Parts: sequence; structure tokens; C-alpha cells
Amino acid sequence: MNRIIKTVSLFVATTLLAQAQAPTPIKVNVAQPVSEIQPTMWGIFFEDINLGADGGIYAELVKNRSFEFQKPLMGWKIERKTFHEGEVLIQNRADKNTANPRFVSVKVENAQKGDLGLTNEGFRGMGIKNGLRYDFSVMYRQSGSPVKVHAELLDAKGQVIGEGTLTPSQTDGQWHRQAVSFNAKATEAKGKLRLWFEGNGQIDLDMISLFPEDTWKGRPGGMRADMIQKLADLKPGFIRFPGGCIVEGFDLNNRYQWKKTIGPIEERQLIMNRWNIEFAHRPAPDYFQTFGLGFFEYLQLAEDIGSEALPILNCGMACQFNSAEVVPMDQLEPYVQDALDLIEFANGDINTTWGKVRAQMGHPAPFNLKMMGVGNENWGPQYIERLKVFTKAIKAKYPNFKLINSSGTDPNGDRFDYLNKELRAMNADFIDEHYYRAPEWFLKNAGRYDSYDRNGSKVFAGEYASHTNNGASASNRNTWRAALSEAAFMTGLERNAAVVQMASYAPLFAHVEGWQWNPDLIWVDNLQSFGTPSYYVQQLYSLNKGTHVLSMTQNNQPLIGQDSLYASASWDKASNEIILKIANNNSQAQVREIQLDGVKKLDPNARLIVMQSDPNSVNTFEEALNVSPSEKKIVVNAKTKKVSLELAPYSFYVVRIKTL
Ligand code: AHR
Repeated sequence: MNRIIKTVSLFVATTLLAQAQAPTPIKVNVAQPVSEIQPTMWGIFFEDINLGADGGIYAELVKNRSFEFQKPLMGWKIERKTFHEGEVLIQNRADKNTANPRFVSVKVENAQKGDLGLTNEGFRGMGIKNGLRYDFSVMYRQSGSPVKVHAELLDAKGQVIGEGTLTPSQTDGQWHRQAVSFNAKATEAKGKLRLWFEGNGQIDLDMISLFPEDTWKGRPGGMRADMIQKLADLKPGFIRFPGGCIVEGFDLNNRYQWKKTIGPIEERQLIMNRWNIEFAHRPAPDYFQTFGLGFFEYLQLAEDIGSEALPILNCGMACQFNSAEVVPMDQLEPYVQDALDLIEFANGDINTTWGKVRAQMGHPAPFNLKMMGVGNENWGPQYIERLKVFTKAIKAKYPNFKLINSSGTDPNGDRFDYLNKELRAMNADFIDEHYYRAPEWFLKNAGRYDSYDRNGSKVFAGEYASHTNNGASASNRNTWRAALSEAAFMTGLERNAAVVQMASYAPLFAHVEGWQWNPDLIWVDNLQSFGTPSYYVQQLYSLNKGTHVLSMTQNNQPLIGQDSLYASASWDKASNEIILKIANNNSQAQVREIQLDGVKKLDPNARLIVMQSDPNSVNTFEEALNVSPSEKKIVVNAKTKKVSLELAPYSFYVVRIKTL
């Protein structure tokens, strides 16, 4: 008897305790959407950092193809059987060609294949794929009897894994381009290109180039397909380019000038990449910008992957951490003109000066550019002074064109407060906020935008990433802990889509042997690429965006860290789905019931997408999907309109529920 009383008492006590402790259900108000979510919401930030463009998405395999690096033969090795003085000379025609002054002259006397050669090491080697066609091309000039050029692909041991011969067809002393293609017979991550010269005479060479056949969309001289596919798979709302700090440059001379990045590639003037010298702990002396990938190609890329283009232009100020050089106000006009001309280049009729240039490059239809950034991480009254001139000129000509303005390098502090106040007083369209911060910052700031003015300037979270070691430290890692803190923070961006209308993780790409900045969204070597846990978080947000924000609360409060939970909800008008996002940053599993209010009929079969792992887990080339989403079906109680979720420790969930 006693035992029965004890058991019953224990049962009653446990039930009461469970009832007392059961968390209040989370409520989603489906009937009254809070605000719209812009199609641009989740985008990408591209910069030529970490070998992002040259040695990255730009599929050119030859490094220093036009001998314009500071050391003209950097990346090249002269191979000689017998030494003859003056056989290989660098020449400079700066008086005739300022954009591409240098070339190499090779003089041979009865040379056979194997006597005199030039080998290019590529960008940390060349990625070569078995069976693939490689297109070798040069610009050459010669007068006497033709000197043959034998091109060989080499593997890491120096064995020939592909070859072709180019016999110049012109001997009129003028520059010509000629090409030969051949197939590789093996796969090699550390390949090289060797040229042997055969014949009698002199040949001048420039723009020595090697491209794989399998570029993005098969465009000759195009982009590395696997890397671009990773971007396309994000279905980004926008693509910001070309940076980042390279917009500003080390000094004004080193700034990014879009007009020098269009037209024939041999006329695009190379400059040093400012990441070449930025970090003493990650020097990159061979990092230059060839601009083979320029503004036309960026606009085309945006169009290809269905994103809005978001170019960022120099505002007349160089990087304030470097030279801090500013252009005097009375000399700002060409900078402003560049901005106006860019809009014409992108959108102008083919009879306009710049619209015609676009058409000549193969795109008569306008790109329909809608926005641009003026300045990257610029700050201070000097910035505001210059920005006002840009804004006045651009808005006068294009009143509906949206401008993105900088709020400096940090999301708080005196510089930020000053700019935030000034820009809001100016009625800025978008204020670009940057935060490279510790995971704890992201967790604490999930409610950052809850109190932002709904009617004022919009926010572009233009660069952010969770840094496990806080700051641009080489020891940061793309862990699940970092990605989960971003997922938690992003619930706050989504909830506040009325204010935050664009967001992009930064930086985007990093080459495992050529990076300066860590962490990054996608890591590559010469043959492969993999997405980090942060990549999959970005993708989950982008692919499960929805069109309207829904209110999602517990005890009438948004979930911004209570019990380490973070949540947001949206409604997708196109598919009639409710989309829930919940991050559990707790080391314990938690169960939550979610009540969907204001909905008439639900499909009981819902989709549940989950990312869950140990906080220190990472993805690698070998285990590229170690931390990545998996999907299963769950059942929603269509009668009570409730769904119960068991949230695993350190997990992120997306739930898609169809309304009928
Ligand atoms: O994303 C790397 C760098 O971080 C960007 O170039 C710059 O804008 C920021 O400081």
C-alpha cells in the first residue's frame, strides 16, 4: 500500500514539476505579417583577397602573364641547356603602351626543343584535369623566320602531361594573337606550363595565357566553374564587388578604377593588390590584379546567377589604415564622374558613350544596375564631405538610384556614432555596417536591430563573420561554433528585414596556400573547393528566405538568447509556406512547442532541415560535408496547429510548413 502511495505521489509530483517547468510555447502569428523581406536580403561579398580573383575565380593559370609584376620575371623560370647572354630580355615600351608596357624577347640560334625554355609556376601551381582541353595563347611579334613555341603541361615531378605546338603565322613585325589547344593526360594540382623555343631568330611575347576548357558557361578566358557554381548555389540576392579594401587601395594610385578594368584584356593596366603587403604575417609578394576579371565580367556574373549587382566605388579616399590619402575637394570631380559613367556603362542606351562600350564588349542590353556603394570602410568628416558631392551629383541625374554609404570599420564607437548620425541626417538610402567579431558578440547582438528606426535609412550588413579568436587573426577557424553564432544573429537580421535589407558574409573565398584573411566562406585549392559551416548557414537563409516576416515570440518577446535559443519566422507568398528558423546554442537538447496562430489549414507533412555538430567541428576537402544540412519529414498537428521540436545541442533548424 505504502509503495502504491509513494509511486502515485512521485508520479503526481513529477507531472506537476514537468508542467511547472514546461516552457511556454513559442507563438508564430501567421495572420499578420510584420514586414516584407526584400529579394536582395541575402547576398555575397566578393573581393580579390586570399587569391579570390587572380589565382581564384579568374581561371587564368599563368601567373604574371604580361611581365608587369614589380619583378618582371616573378613566377617564371628560364630553362637553359647552355647559357647565352641576352637570350631572354624584358623590354619596356612605356612610351607607346602605358597600360601594358613590358614584354619578353626571346632570341634563339638554331635552337631545338629542350635548349631554351620558360616555365611558369602558376598560382601555387596549376590545377590540371585529365582529359580536359587547355587553351594556350600568346601575343607575339616577330620579323624573321618563325620561332616555334612548344607548350608543355608538367606534373609536380616535371613529367609532360599535355603538349601542343604553336607556329606563329605572321612575321610582319606587328603584334598578333595566336592560340593552340591540347588535352591533358593526367590530373595534377601542382602543374606547371613550360615553353620551349625552336628555330632561329627573335620572338617577342606578351599575354602568355593558359585557360581550361571547363570555365563557367564555357566562356573562353572565363571563370573557374566549380567556384562560381558554389556562388550560384547560394542563389544570392546581390553580389557586392570588387571589395572591400581593394576599392580604397593602399594609396589613391593603388585604388580600384573600374574604367581600367574593361575592354581588351591586354589594355587593362595591372596594379599591385593591396593584400600583397597588408599583413606582415601573411606576405603575398606575387599578388597583383590583372583585371582579366573586371567590371564587365562582374556585371555579367551578377546577371548569370540572378543577383543584383552592387559595385562599390572609391570615394576619393585611400585606406585610412594605410596611407589615409584623400583627394582634395577641388579634384574630386573625376571620381564622381566615374560613378556617373558607371551607371551609364551598366544601363545606358547603346548610343551613349559608355553604353556603346558595353555593347562593344558583347552586351547591348542594359544590366539594369540599381545601386552602388560610395566608399568602403571610410570614416570621418572627410568622408561625409566627399559623399555629399557624390550623392548630389548621382541623385540629380538618377533620382531613384540607391546609394550605399559607409559607417566605417566597426559597429559601435565614436566613429560609428558620428557617421550613423550624419548619414541618417542625410537620409542615406543604405548604411553599410561591418562586424568581424567574436561568436559571443553575435549571440549578444541578435536583438541589435529590434530597436532601429523602421522609417529611417536602411541597413546593409555588408561584411560580417564570427571570428573564433576575435579580430583578423590567422588562427581563426571556420568552426560550427562560429557558424552557429552567425545563424543565431541572422534570426535578428531576418526579424528586422524592415530595416536590414541586405546582408553578406565576408570574405568569400580563400586559397589554402594563398590566403591573407581567415575565416572565409569557401576554401579552395587548385582543383577543388568546399563550403564551410558558415557557407551552409548562408545557404539555408538564402534558400529559405520567404517574402514576409512573421512575429515569433515566447512570452511576447522575440527569442534573442533566452535558454540560448534564437528564432525568426517568415511567410513565403509564392509557395504558401511558413518558414521557421531556430538556433539552439545550448549544450543541452531542448524541446519546444510552436503554436501557429491565425492559420486555417495546414499540411501535416512538413520539412525539417537541420545542422548540428560539435562546436569545434569544421569542414575539410576530405570531409567537405562534415557540417552541412540534412533533411527529414516531420508531422505537424494540423488540428491544434502545433509542432513540437526537439532541438539538439548546438543545432540550427529550418522548418517549412505548407498552409492549405
Ligand atoms: O573582408 C576583408 C576586409 O575586411 C575588407 O576588405 C574590408 O572592407 C574589411 O576590413
